Amino acid sequence: MSRRISVAIDGPAGAGKSSISKVVAKKLGYLYIDTGAMYRGITWALLETGVSIDDAEAVSQALPHIQLELQATESGLVVLVNGRDVSQEIRTQYVTSHVSQVAAQKAVRTKLVEMQRDMASAGGVILDGRDIGSVVLPNAELKIYLTASVETRGHRRWLELKDSENISLEEVCRTVAERDMMDMNRKESPLVCVDDAVVIETDHLSIEETVQTLIDLIRKAELGGCHG
Ligand code: DC
Repeated sequence: MSRRISVAIDGPAGAGKSSISKVVAKKLGYLYIDTGAMYRGITWALLETGVSIDDAEAVSQALPHIQLELQATESGLVVLVNGRDVSQEIRTQYVTSHVSQVAAQKAVRTKLVEMQRDMASAGGVILDGRDIGSVVLPNAELKIYLTASVETRGHRRWLELKDSENISLEEVCRTVAERDMMDMNRKESPLVCVDDAVVIETDHLSIEETVQTLIDLIRKAELGGCHG
């Protein structure tokens, strides 16, 4: 008997986590939760209201006033902050360059991890982020660590940004490397590759190949297959 499982996908910025997860979830009828979008939504709200993002006390006081909602629609994920659709704004370089600082704050993580566990509680879910296999869903039936070189990841991000923002490939690669550093070295829930994760390097894999690899792993795990 196969069952609907919980899938944790972690990895550094630009590894392809959200592009891949979105497609896999749609093909399998799973719910996809982009946890990075949640950290981005909080970051947008703090910047918009002028809260100093380095001030842990100020951030903590602002959090109860930020109502975050994710809606899965036909055209993709919609992120609402206090009822306003900020799905586009959260992808700008401005938000991207501040999000790791916000994601390092304990109060922010506590709030979002609770929401994420709640959303995942029914199973049949794919969550992507940095701490899914280690903190959010340590009992997930399948854990994946998706990664690629900084050059590959920077290039992918640059392709996504180049038409809407005046930014060089070098600058995007530098931002990706800086975010890696912050996400991997922070005190609260740093990005780690847990022992029971299946590592997938995507440098030389197409989206289709990565999607198929993941679907095969999920199908096996649904039948109760081993993690590795
Ligand atoms: O995946 P992304 O680039 O949208 O993530 C944005 C930032 O949020 C990333 O720099 C690290 C942080 N993040 C996190 O700390 N934990 C998660 N579960 C997801 C994202």
